[in-house]
Amino acid sequence: MPVEKALNTLLSRRKFHSLSSRADSRACKLRCRFNHLIRNCSSANPAVVVAGDEKYGNKQVISITPRLYDYILANVREPQILRRLREETANMRGSQMQVSPDQAQLLAMLVQILGAERCIEVGVYTGYSSLAVALVLPDLGCLVACERDAKSLEVAKKYYELAGVSHKVILKHGLAADALKSMILNGEAGSYDFAFVDAEKKMCQEYYELLLQLVRVGGVIVIDNVLWHGKVVDPMVNDAKTISIRNFNKNLMEDKRVSISMVPIGDGMTICRKQ
Ligand SMILES: C[S@@+](CC[C@H](N)C(=O)[O-])C[C@H]1O[C@@H](n2cnc3c(N)ncnc32)[C@H](O)[C@@H]1O
Repeated sequence: MPVEKALNTLLSRRKFHSLSSRADSRACKLRCRFNHLIRNCSSANPAVVVAGDEKYGNKQVISITPRLYDYILANVREPQILRRLREETANMRGSQMQVSPDQAQLLAMLVQILGAERCIEVGVYTGYSSLAVALVLPDLGCLVACERDAKSLEVAKKYYELAGVSHKVILKHGLAADALKSMILNGEAGSYDFAFVDAEKKMCQEYYELLLQLVRVGGVIVIDNVLWHGKVVDPMVNDAKTISIRNFNKNLMEDKRVSISMVPIGDGMTICRKQ
């Protein structure tokens, strides 16, 4: 029996729940240690994570080990042109900023499910996620791609050309918030189907508010890095970016203008659908 299964069996035994208060606290410490062990289990099988709150019925979810992640990546249908772009970007500064192939595939699928024709991306870098979206847009569709860095935009442009999707991409070189504000002033509110936010993390709330105006009812806004390398749950981490992502996630949880789903893919993405 794998060690995590044995520990879970032990944890779920009824006697664990009916102890005196002293024994209770010892059991609690033991439980924490066991949970810690489960979380850090290095068996050949993927480790499982169990919710700390017992009201979730000891629900087990998988923890993505490197081996399991390789398996996920091996099951992504990555178009050849995206692969080329990814491999070229791998040698560039900031390559870790690029979304992962499984994330890009999910974004493209959301665009397809929505039947989106008008999309926005905030934070293009060398174009991996924007190209994934542009590839699945209909020929008359458009993607407004906002990026402040001219050098990375050159790479993106080259790949839009190579992929034959340049006619679908409207590049906005400069600060994304300025571009979004001028689109609103231009009367484009409510005319977009899909938006992806992957730029300055401290600006998330502002991008979101502007995009909420630009997206139609039923449209979707996806925000990247909502788990921020796990720092959102680490009480020892209180830098400005982490605090701002925490606040953004909290605000989103209370925001009745959208329905939401936080997905543990990549660095965490929240999918918001405008009500
Ligand atoms: C995480 S990367 C985007 C990665 C891209 N989505 C991909 O998958 O390849 C963030 C990008 O946002 C850009 N950026 C950051 N702040 C910005 C701003 N205020 N306006 C426009 N672009 C910005 C950065 O230059 C960087 O290229």
